Amino acid sequence: MNTSTKTCDSVTVRQPSDIVLARSCARAMAARLGFGKADQTRLATAVSELTRNVVMYAGSGECRITDTSDAEFNRIEITVEDQGPGIADMELAMQDGFSTGGSMGAGLAGTRRLVENFSLESAPGLTKVTVSLSLRRI
Ligand SMILES: Nc1ncnc2c1ncn2[C@@H]1O[C@H](COP(=O)(O)OP(=O)(O)OP(=O)(O)O)[C@@H](O)[C@H]1O
Ligand SMILES: [Mg+2]
Repeated sequence: MNTSTKTCDSVTVRQPSDIVLARSCARAMAARLGFGKADQTRLATAVSELTRNVVMYAGSGECRITDTSDAEFNRIEITVEDQGPGIADMELAMQDGFSTGGSMGAGLAGTRRLVENFSLESAPGLTKVTVSLSLRRI
C-alpha cells in the first residue's frame, strides 16, 4: 500500500489574497485527484472559512494542503494553524451563530458539516484545525 504523504501546498495566511490562493490550491489538488465539483467546492469553502478566521482572529497563520491518498482512497487533508490568542470556549465557538467578531458565526460549524473529519485544538498561542475529505478509488 502506498502510504507516502506529500505536502503539496503550504500557504502563509496574512491577508485576503492569501485566502484566495489557499482556496484555489485546495480546489486544484482536489481536481487533480479526481474529486468532483461538489467536493472541490466543499474543500475550497473549508479552506476559505478556516483561513478567514486566521486573518480575523489571529492575524496570521499557515494553511497546509496535503495529499494523504492511499491504495483505497484519494484523500486531501487540510491543516490550518495559527499562533494567535486561541478560542476561549471551543464548544461555544462550534455552535451555529456564535461569533465574537460580529459575523454570522457559521464558519466552524458549517465547515464541520462539509468534511469527513474535523478536529479542532486550541489554546493561547496555538489554534489548529484539521479537516479531510476522501474519495474511494475505483
Ligand atoms: N483561529 C481562531 N483564533 C481565535 N478565535 C477563533 C479562531 N477561529 C474562530 N475563532 C472564534 O470562534 C468563533 C466562531 O468562529 P466561526 O468561524 O464559526 O464564526 P465567525 O468567524 O465569528 O463568523 P463567520 O465565519 O460566519 O463569518 C469566532 O467568532 C471567534 O471567536
Ligand atoms: Mg469564521
